[in-house]
Amino acid sequence: MLEVENLHCTLGTNEILQGISFTISGGEIVTVVGKSGAGKTTLMRVLCGLENISRGTVCIRGKKACHGDYGLVQQGCCLFEHMTVLKNVSYALQAVRKFSTEKARAIALDMLAQFGLKDKITAYPNSLSGGQKQRVAIARTLVMDPKVLLFDEPTSALDPEMTNDVVNMIKNIASQGIAILIVTHDLAMSRKISDRILFLEGGKIVENRPTEEFFLDPHSEQAKSFLKNMALF
Ligand SMILES: Nc1ncnc2c1ncn2[C@@H]1O[C@H](COP(=O)(O)OP(=O)(O)OP(=O)(O)O)[C@@H](O)[C@H]1O
Ligand SMILES: [Mg+2]
Repeated sequence: MLEVENLHCTLGTNEILQGISFTISGGEIVTVVGKSGAGKTTLMRVLCGLENISRGTVCIRGKKACHGDYGLVQQGCCLFEHMTVLKNVSYALQAVRKFSTEKARAIALDMLAQFGLKDKITAYPNSLSGGQKQRVAIARTLVMDPKVLLFDEPTSALDPEMTNDVVNMIKNIASQGIAILIVTHDLAMSRKISDRILFLEGGKIVENRPTEEFFLDPHSEQAKSFLKNMALF
């Protein structure tokens, strides 16, 4: 479904991504891990059009990918603080998709109900818990019907129980056929959630392996040392 081929990205004078290639099928959950500065966030920003590609191609279902194919759930949720939960979720349907207020509201209500947030529709983000905010952020992204969903550190601000909650939610979304790419420092979470791990270093993919293989038997010295530093190998 998502096919990334020989992707390069230069920021300033530095080539940050140096020929990245990978694919993600619909329904598959892939996590990108690697040291600070490896290029994880840059990869995500390039995919959703926030940085320019200097070389390479990104295709979704065989066609050149476009902005609307992606949904990005940013780190820290980034909800609109001055809007209610319902408005946060319905806003882009009106502003971007040009749906009527009623239609946008109906779609948003349905999504919020699926996420167990029906009693929060008139609340403002500052009155929600971290887990609730994360659910609103995911609902807001999902109503736009993305083909690929990108998560930047989805559990960084959450306690273990809420982390589990979000893990289950993401798995459930994947089961609907959406391709999911997650960037995280939370290796325990990535092990729980991912079908596959991309290990990035110096702007290159050093390993692209099924999750358990990666954690139990990393091939590269870089991955071995990364996991050792995390006391996981
Ligand atoms: N706008 C920019 N201009 C020049 N260099 C940049 C820019 N943004 C990021 N970089 C550099 O690109 C490299 C990769 O950064 P990136 O944010 O993708 O790393 P990361 O893997 O997400 O790290 P972290 O785990 O710390 O979030 C870093 O060396 C960073 O300094
Ligand atoms: Mg980052």
